[in-house]
Amino acid sequence: MKALILAGGEGTRLRPITHTSAKQLVPVANKPVLYYCLHSIAEAGIKEVIIIVGDTQDEIKEAIGNGEQFGVSVSYVYQERPLGLAHAVKIAQKELGNEEFVMFLGDNLIKDGIKTLVDEFKSNKPNAQILLAEVEDPKRFGVAELNGDNTVKKLVEKPKTPVSNLALVGVYMFDKNIFEAVNAIKPSWRDELEITDAIQYMIDKGLTVEPHIIQGWWKDTGKLEDMLEANRMILEDLKEGCLGQVDNKSKIVGKVFIDEGARVINSTIRGPAVIGKNTVIEHSYIGPFTSIYYDCQVIDSEIEHSIVLEGSAVKSINRLSDSLIGKNVEVVKSNKKPKAYRLMVGDNSKVGI
Ligand code: G1P
Repeated sequence: MKALILAGGEGTRLRPITHTSAKQLVPVANKPVLYYCLHSIAEAGIKEVIIIVGDTQDEIKEAIGNGEQFGVSVSYVYQERPLGLAHAVKIAQKELGNEEFVMFLGDNLIKDGIKTLVDEFKSNKPNAQILLAEVEDPKRFGVAELNGDNTVKKLVEKPKTPVSNLALVGVYMFDKNIFEAVNAIKPSWRDELEITDAIQYMIDKGLTVEPHIIQGWWKDTGKLEDMLEANRMILEDLKEGCLGQVDNKSKIVGKVFIDEGARVINSTIRGPAVIGKNTVIEHSYIGPFTSIYYDCQVIDSEIEHSIVLEGSAVKSINRLSDSLIGKNVEVVKSNKKPKAYRLMVGDNSKVGI
């Protein structure tokens, strides 16, 4: 069995971060989302991975390389424009061959991984297996309607009036019948070849499409709120540890991981929180559910429930909350109030508050 990871796309809902970076590489608990995906593929015993890349291909290739660090072998297929998930399958047909494969959207996070799901697919041998999860806002997703016997009746992409709260999770398993489907369907109203329509084609042809409702936690990290929730969820299971330095004026409370070369000076860190390599935290408070990436500086500031990407500096800020700060950003206090800020700031920005 092979894996197809989709890491193209424009990441419009995470702008401005995605003007300069791939959304799949935004770190959650200091690990890029795409790494979780590759780790769970490797854990499921899959060795051959094809990654669909778009405009951010250089960055993705630099981060993943040939896949060796994940114990898999990676090749890349370039998608000129984000023309849909089914289009991605179409252009990878040659690389996928006749083998079964799991398709994994590179911005989706499944906390429990996919091993049991892949095993189930291998033993039941349906033509396709889809994962469903109950969500509060089904309009944002592909939505499934099931029959009384739990077979799939109908799938609709982003319905205006959803018939159920069962959303399609961004992990799908297919046998070679998917190729006939992706080659037969026509673009949708959003001018994309929808995988939802391709699976519906398989259903209409009488092929077996097995649904599996997942109970564990799943997130499409396409938006700021979802990114922060993913960060919260992953940090809850954080393994604490300290590879850096903490001076005796500092206080570490709860689950905190401090990476190599990081320094904590006269500060309090209340976990769960993670402090990246070579980051300096000085005269500051880092509150729960915060991930500060590599080479950052947090001086005389308070941050909680936020993600800060590499090389950024936060100085004299009280208090930063619910924020995603891009790379190489400077957030420095000016004389203006109020005390709480909610920011979504792009890479290489400078913000004077
Ligand atoms: C895509 C699929 C949708 C699915 C979602 C899961 O949506 O089209 O059916 O529910 O991923 O993340 P998109 O990210 O293209 O909006």
